[in-house]
Amino acid sequence: MVTIVPGPFTREGKEAAVQKEVRENYDIYFEKAAKTRLWFPDKLKERDDMEKYGHMITDDTKEILFGFMGVESIVDDYVFGGIKAAGNSLTTAQLYIQWGYEESRHGKTFQTSLIDSGLATKEETDKFIAETQEYHWTFEEQTGYQATPLLASAYAIFQERQTRWNYTQTRIKIWEEYGSPRAKDGSRIYPAISGAIGFPERDEGAHEANFTNIVRIYMKYFPDQALDALAKVSNHYKMPVVQLPNAEEFIRCTLAAGLGNPRTVINDVMNPCLNRMGLESRQALKTAIKNFNLLSEDAIVHVEGKPLEGIVPDETSEVYTMTSTGEFILDKNPEAN
Ligand SMILES: [Fe+2]
Ligand SMILES: [Fe+2]
Repeated sequence: MVTIVPGPFTREGKEAAVQKEVRENYDIYFEKAAKTRLWFPDKLKERDDMEKYGHMITDDTKEILFGFMGVESIVDDYVFGGIKAAGNSLTTAQLYIQWGYEESRHGKTFQTSLIDSGLATKEETDKFIAETQEYHWTFEEQTGYQATPLLASAYAIFQERQTRWNYTQTRIKIWEEYGSPRAKDGSRIYPAISGAIGFPERDEGAHEANFTNIVRIYMKYFPDQALDALAKVSNHYKMPVVQLPNAEEFIRCTLAAGLGNPRTVINDVMNPCLNRMGLESRQALKTAIKNFNLLSEDAIVHVEGKPLEGIVPDETSEVYTMTSTGEFILDKNPEAN
């Protein structure tokens, strides 16, 4: 759906356009979630094989699974942060409730995986979760900034992508610990936990796409704010600051497994997220912010290779293409967009 904003447009007009597009994005998200990602951690058929494969899981992987369970178990704090950031936007608050519901399935998936595989008892996992929940996560403490819907979405892009990346790596690690099982035709099969972890993994991918869409909407109408938000949350980006009962072992095991090493975080998490915003790197983001400040106040910007969808510039508008290196080039023929 394309919203047409006739120029010249006021700040109020642009804000209304953002709200409208954000709402449309949510509607599509909800519909897709219900159609393609409806699953329940208790009902996963992968649980049936966990007992059989449980003894193959290494101690390091067990620590990692405990850690993931802990990080996913403080979902109430993340949801509360999102609702607080939403202010009086009911749509944004609704999104955080749906998102929180999906996140809560993840903690449960790790918990049932540990129990069904014989790696921990129900009591041990409950105790671990209760201890983790004693600490309360806040967006302010995590990022150093007061949450707004835009900032929260910008942070979430990176965090969701890294979570998905962690789950992908762990799925493959567990598959290898299971003896790299393959079907008769040679294709990989992912039984027990290696299969179950694929469900949260897919959710995280959908979350990343959703928050990317939201920031892209802001990028269209308020590029300066969107660029600023991306810079703020990516400057000192780190995964949720959570106090895990197994903190030391978790860090040791995740590093040993190649998760969270700074180079990978830049190459496989930060840069791909920025690429989807039309920028090649954090350096390009810095350049874009510096250059944007030199443009005239009502300059219209679009990402290279992407048309100026939904905005109709008038004769006096200056329309710029933002290149992947963060430069702005004045379009010669804005109507051609
Ligand atoms: Fe999650
Ligand atoms: Fe997520």
